[in-house]
Amino acid sequence: MSATALNQEDIMRWNDSLDEGSPQGVLAAAVERFFPDVALACSFGLEDVALVDMLSRIRPGVKVFYLDTGLFFPETYAVRDKLAARYPAEWIRIEPRISLDEQAAQYGASLWAENPDLCCKLRKVEPLQRALSELGLRAWITGIRRDQAPTRANARLVEWDAKFGLVKFNPLAAWKAADVWDYVRSNGLPYNVLHDQGYPSIGCWPCTRRVQPGEDPRAGRWAGTAKTECGLHG
Ligand code: ADX
Ligand code: SF4
Repeated sequence: MSATALNQEDIMRWNDSLDEGSPQGVLAAAVERFFPDVALACSFGLEDVALVDMLSRIRPGVKVFYLDTGLFFPETYAVRDKLAARYPAEWIRIEPRISLDEQAAQYGASLWAENPDLCCKLRKVEPLQRALSELGLRAWITGIRRDQAPTRANARLVEWDAKFGLVKFNPLAAWKAADVWDYVRSNGLPYNVLHDQGYPSIGCWPCTRRVQPGEDPRAGRWAGTAKTECGLHG
């Protein structure tokens, strides 16, 4: 790829040239084209742990940001600490503009129950928008996989993110959960202990519950509401 601007067609062609079976190849292409203006969005789930490992082997010092809602499980913060100690990435913590106390004073003690879309907007979507622009990013990398949800079924390895106005890489788009587990286990990576306790998909504690065997892996996210996405991914 040349250093000139990419249009939609270039991105489609680029996507078609990438190997669905090689997240590392996708990450290497992202780094080659955009470093230092590319960053991994990390929520410390299993996919993100694998991506931090892969990316750090390709380019130590690459930016990894997390949108700290202030509502992660303690087990999630423990993964953050382990990864930060192990990988020399440029770790960037992004906070919401509004503290939890301010949110409670303005909207009540549990906005996540009353209006989760507004809560996600304040604590995740606006912070993401700000991060992408303040960090001067031209591309971001995420851990979404196609089989996680119907809303993610069309995710490409590389695509134009029209919502946020930059290139988006989803290196694990074609991987299944078992592929991610294989990578994490065979490389001895740290991971969130809640994954072994019935939590395949982990977000903020007020909006994440344990799932029963046989239930959809994302059934524990915003359970009991129609909400399936926080707004980062369309
Ligand atoms: S969510 O939209 O339902 O919360 P999910 O938990 O599946 O998303 O995570 C999918 C991907 O979105 C992660 O692999 C990560 O790239 C990004 N992501 C989600 N939450 C955050 C967060 N708090 N900070 C940074 N990236 C995040
Ligand atoms: Fe708020 Fe729940 Fe969204 Fe977290 S996941 S920002 S607690 S609504």
